[in-house]
Amino acid sequence: MIGPNTDSTLGRPKENRVLENKKILLIVAGGIAAVKVPDLIRRLRERGASVTCILTKGGSQFVTPLTLASLSGNKAYQDLFSLTDEAEMGHIRLCREADILLVAPATADIMAKMTVGIADDLATTALLATDKPVMIAPSMNVMMWTHPATQANLQTLKTREVQVIGPGAGDLACGEVGDGRMAEVPDIIAALSRHFQKSRGEGPLQGYRAVVTSGPTHEPIDPVRYIANRSSGKQGHAVAAALANLGASVTLVTGPTNEPAPDGATIVKVETAAQMMKACSEALPAEILVCAAAVADWSVAGQTGQKIKKGDKAPALKLAENPDILATLSQPGPERPALVIGFAAETENLITNAQLKRASKNCDWIVANDVSTGSGVFSGDANTVHLITADGVEDWPTMAKRAVAERLAERIAKFAERNL
Ligand code: CTP
Repeated sequence: MIGPNTDSTLGRPKENRVLENKKILLIVAGGIAAVKVPDLIRRLRERGASVTCILTKGGSQFVTPLTLASLSGNKAYQDLFSLTDEAEMGHIRLCREADILLVAPATADIMAKMTVGIADDLATTALLATDKPVMIAPSMNVMMWTHPATQANLQTLKTREVQVIGPGAGDLACGEVGDGRMAEVPDIIAALSRHFQKSRGEGPLQGYRAVVTSGPTHEPIDPVRYIANRSSGKQGHAVAAALANLGASVTLVTGPTNEPAPDGATIVKVETAAQMMKACSEALPAEILVCAAAVADWSVAGQTGQKIKKGDKAPALKLAENPDILATLSQPGPERPALVIGFAAETENLITNAQLKRASKNCDWIVANDVSTGSGVFSGDANTVHLITADGVEDWPTMAKRAVAERLAERIAKFAERNL
C-alpha cells in the first residue's frame, strides 16, 4: 500500500464508472489461477459490470459452476451441446451479447486452440464465433509459457488484436519461480477499464480531478520590489499537461512564469504563497494533488504599501513564514486528495532530506531532485529525479522534464486504476 491514504473508496470520482453496464463474457479455463476468478467476478460486479461465465472442463476442476453462477448472478455455461442452453441462448448469442470476451486464466492449451481455430467445446467455439474484442490473462508453468510454441501462439494472437494482460513473475503453483502467474485481479480490472476508456476515446485519468502547483512565488517587499526564486515552472507545467493528456481534469495554480499554458488545463495565476494557498484550497476537492511549485518560504512582514526610499542605511527586512501548501493540504480530512505528491528541491543529502520531507509533510509520494549549482535543473529542460514512495526509492534516469512528467502521470494513472 502506498502512502497514508489508500482507502479504496476515498476520492473515487463518480464519473469513473467505465465498467458500469459492461457485459463481460468470462471464459474460465483449467488452471490453478481459476481460484482467483470468484474475486474477479466480485470486483467486476462492484463496478457495475455484468458477468456471464463459460467454464471449460479443465476449469471445473478448480472452481464449480455453482460458485460462478452464484457470484455472477448468471448461469455458468459449460456444455456446447446442451439443448436447453442452445434453445435459451446459444453460444452465438452469448458472444453477441457480450462487450468483451475475457479468458482468465488462459492456459497454454486454450491459447493454442485459439491460434489454430479449434472449436471443440463451448469456450473455444465462442472464441471462434466472436467478432468482439478478446482479452486473455495467461497462466501456466514457466516452461510452458516460454516454450517456442506458446510464444509463437502469443505473437499470432497479438497480431489478431487479442489483448494480453500479464502474466507476472513469481512463485508458481508447480513450485517453480518465473513468468507464468496470472495477472492480479486489480491489474485485470485496470486492463478492462483501459480497454473501455480507449474505446470511448478517453484517457486512463478520465473523471479524475487534479490540482497542480507550479512556478515560483513572488513575495512583495514594497509595490515595486519582490523576493523570488529561480523556478521556471517547466516541470510543474509539464506535469499539468501530462495529466490533462491522460484525461484528468486539471487545475494548474501557477506563480509567475514564462511557460505557455498547457492545453486542456484550467489556469489560475497567482503571485504570492498566500494567494497560491487560497487558490489551491478553492480548487479542491480533487483526487490528485501535485505540488511542484517552488513556494517562497517567507514573505515580507509589515509592508506599508509605499515604495521604500533609499536612506542612509540599507533597510532590514522582517520576514514572516508562509503557509506550507503541501503540508496543509495533505493533513488527514475529508478534503485531502487521495494521492498527494510533493517535490523536494535539495542541494545536499538528497534522498534522506526528501524522505524526511515526505514524512513531515504527510504526502504519499515525493519527487526528489538535486537543485545544487551545476545541476542545471532550475532553468534547464532536463531533470534527474528519484521517486520516493512508502515502498522505497526509484532512481529515474536523466530525462527531459516533459518525459519525467509523462512517466509520473503514467504512475498516477496506475495508482488511480488500482486504488481510487
Ligand atoms: N511547498 C509548499 N508550500 C511551501 C513550501 C513548499 O507547498 N510554503 C511544497 C513544494 O511545492 C514542494 C515541497 O513542499 O512540493 C517541498 O518544497 P521544498 O522547497 O523542497 O522544501 P521546503 O518545504 O521549502 O523546505 P526547505 O526549503 O527547508 O528545503
